[in-house]
Amino acid sequence: MAASQNEDAFVEFERVQKSYDGETLVVKDLNLTMPKGEFLTMLGPSGSGKTTCLMMLAGFETATHGDIRLNGRPINNIPPHKRGIGMVFQNYALFPHMTIEENLSFPLEVRNIGKSDREAKVKRALDMVEMGAFGKRRPAQLSGGQQQRIALARALVFEPELVLMDEPLGALDKQLREKMQFEITDLAHRLGITTVYVTHDQTEALTMSDRVAVFDDGRIQQLDAPDTLYEEPQNSFVAQFIGENNTLEGTVKEIRDGIALVQLDDGELIDCLPVNVSKPGERTRVSIRPERVEFNKERLQAGAHTLKAEVMEFIYMGDIFRTRLKVAGNDEFVVKTRNAPDQVRLKPGEQIEIGWLPQDCRALDA
Ligand SMILES: Nc1ncnc2c1ncn2[C@@H]1O[C@H](COP(=O)(O)OP(=O)(O)OP(=O)(O)O)[C@@H](O)[C@H]1O
Ligand SMILES: [Mg+2]
Repeated sequence: MAASQNEDAFVEFERVQKSYDGETLVVKDLNLTMPKGEFLTMLGPSGSGKTTCLMMLAGFETATHGDIRLNGRPINNIPPHKRGIGMVFQNYALFPHMTIEENLSFPLEVRNIGKSDREAKVKRALDMVEMGAFGKRRPAQLSGGQQQRIALARALVFEPELVLMDEPLGALDKQLREKMQFEITDLAHRLGITTVYVTHDQTEALTMSDRVAVFDDGRIQQLDAPDTLYEEPQNSFVAQFIGENNTLEGTVKEIRDGIALVQLDDGELIDCLPVNVSKPGERTRVSIRPERVEFNKERLQAGAHTLKAEVMEFIYMGDIFRTRLKVAGNDEFVVKTRNAPDQVRLKPGEQIEIGWLPQDCRALDA
């Protein structure tokens, strides 16, 4: 197996495939390179192959095809406990019969670290997750969030260079989850730990990560920084999966000077950014974010395209207004507008004109 060609790569998947039954590939041609210290999240629907990728990296599953490298070297033949990887899973299995201190000491004992060193490291790990006062308790005497923090401390206590986390916050309530999200990224960045994090919560992925790999059907659909994923989705799956999105269906009429002219199914012609359409006649889904649509005539920018719309619903949400419209046959078209003093308030049944800039309207795959 070849060593890495890329000096900056800390974690590498190269052409990795995985099949459990020898027939269907649940991971199809995965390519991924992470530099040291990166916080990368694998985000995707259930069954898209996220845990499988983590398990291969951890060494609990082997790749059917391809190479996985850590620090430039293939890891296929290194057993899990020799990979120096810390792990946190959704059902954090702390040892119930051991105290918290003993739970944290265990990974150090396995690595033959001496007693006084162990005690110092356990204390530091507990302080790090603000659980210093709980060392003598047993897991059952802690709340879910506290157990989760101990699981995190246990994954970090032996100072791994790489930490893998599979839905570690899934069982926690919203408030605690948000606090832990911050604690995890803060720790990872402070200690320079490279992290692969798995979730199917897109907010969590967007707020925590340096980059997000959006998985679907065993493939990475897009790998980018959070803002790029949201602003520049490369296909319809990503546009729909990340954030709220409006789609209008149509056919490409022509592509010229970086603009695609699309005929919507109700006959209207609009200008779009050709993202993954390539020729006239192709079917397309046009994607527009709810906050990029303007229905205040005075605020419509020069060059904006306008379309007729019917108001279906107008909801006051405090900081924003959420308007549901019927546009080109789609009655689930949502517009979000900031609650400003001059913002128009609408009533169901009103006929209005809406507009957006061509660059905010992306022609994607149908
Ligand atoms: N041990 C196994 N044996 C056979 N098939 C498996 C095994 N583990 C996972 N699979 C299958 O592989 C596919 C990918 O599963 P995986 O657990 O990687 O998905 P996931 O993205 O982590 O999903 P979730 O969000 O539900 O945890 C699924 O179709 C699943 O049924
Ligand atoms: Mg999973």
